[in-house]
Amino acid sequence: MENTPLYDALTSFAAQNPLRLHMPGHKGKPLPGLDNLAAIDFTELPPTGNLFEGGGAIGEAEALWAEAFRMESCLFLTGGSTQGVLAALTLACQPGDTVLLDRGSHRSAYNALALLDLKPVYLDRPWLARAGVTGPISPERVEEQLTAHPEIKALCITSPTYYGVLSDLPALAEVMHRHGGVLVVDGAHGAHLPFLGDYGLSEADLLVASAHKTLPAPGQSALLFSNGAFSHADLRRAASIYGSSSPSYPMMAALDLCRAHMLEGGGEAYSRTAEEVARLRERFPALTEQDAPLDPTRLVLCAPDGYAAQEALEAQNVWPEMADGGHVVLIPTCADGRSDFARLEEALRQVALGPCPGYPAPTVPPEMALTPRQALFVPRKSLPLEQAEGQVAVCQVAPYPPGVPVIAPGERVNKKSIAYLKQIGYNTLEDVSVAVL
Ligand SMILES: Cc1ncc(COP(=O)(O)O)c(C=O)c1O
Repeated sequence: MENTPLYDALTSFAAQNPLRLHMPGHKGKPLPGLDNLAAIDFTELPPTGNLFEGGGAIGEAEALWAEAFRMESCLFLTGGSTQGVLAALTLACQPGDTVLLDRGSHRSAYNALALLDLKPVYLDRPWLARAGVTGPISPERVEEQLTAHPEIKALCITSPTYYGVLSDLPALAEVMHRHGGVLVVDGAHGAHLPFLGDYGLSEADLLVASAHKTLPAPGQSALLFSNGAFSHADLRRAASIYGSSSPSYPMMAALDLCRAHMLEGGGEAYSRTAEEVARLRERFPALTEQDAPLDPTRLVLCAPDGYAAQEALEAQNVWPEMADGGHVVLIPTCADGRSDFARLEEALRQVALGPCPGYPAPTVPPEMALTPRQALFVPRKSLPLEQAEGQVAVCQVAPYPPGVPVIAPGERVNKKSIAYLKQIGYNTLEDVSVAVL
């Protein structure tokens, strides 16, 4: 076939045999049972069932996932955790409600604020200066915010973070439930954790997990779980707002196969991956459990220049998930075997790693001048950040680290934020979108 630029780019990159330390979690290795996608690519018919009507074989497959996660119900998502976060916040809040939101949330949560017209109270995280990342959410801080803002209906946090930092979900659930609120956990990066041990994910009222990020499952496949407070019909109703009315059957079948694989040997393979990661964390400068409670399989290397370290790996055909000024983030999964780890270790020997540069703690969020919803729909223009002082941002300015928006949509850009961004090396000549008021 001629003139297939994307297909050609992907196949020629794959032929280069890159060591994939990024998502999807299958790492380009065959997904058994999925070699002929067309054969199982159906539409809603009596034998195939209907995702958003519930029941049937899809319902049975979802129930098995719920059991594996010790949750009451599960819904398959074909639009990634993005669809799950939007659906979860739709269920947890009514338009106009106040939500306590992890300031480090993914943009899907910020989009949910705008779509649902929610009022955010932002929850900061402690800054781990030595590690150069934000730490776990503090239950005490949550309690303080709930006392100061008794109108808060839900808490939405990310655990684990991109850097693998885990929060104490049982403690957060206890605080939240004592105050009559709902705990939504964006566990997009933690779909593998229940196959490794008890990381408290089942304490969430609503839990979102991206199968495709850390499990052998195709891009966009994800899961939404509920624990009692919301029925399966609730999950279907909310997720259908944001999902295609023609969800992919191969993707749903892949979720079914993925769970079976994880229970039949994938979990043990993941334990071996955790052992390899523990060994590499000792051998090379990396975030460790001494810094914060961590996902045992996320490998975050520390480097005086994270971008240079990333490039040095790529030059050896080793491809990280991402880098920031002081880290390189790798996503090893159960699909990485002994030879992959040996290849990684060999490559790491050639890279300048070491303590990450000292970053100052994130600044206090600026004043909110527009609601997130107003910020989404207001007319806008682009300006270099350096010239945006006094303007209201309608986008996020969220460099890594800290990975939390220094400026969130609706906030007025101030001198302090610009100075902070400059200090951490952000290019303040880069354009940001601001409101035309
Ligand atoms: C914390 C977090 N939540 C949600 C998402 C969205 O997940 P997906 O890409 O599966 O839609 C991401 C994506 O990177 C993420 O990092």
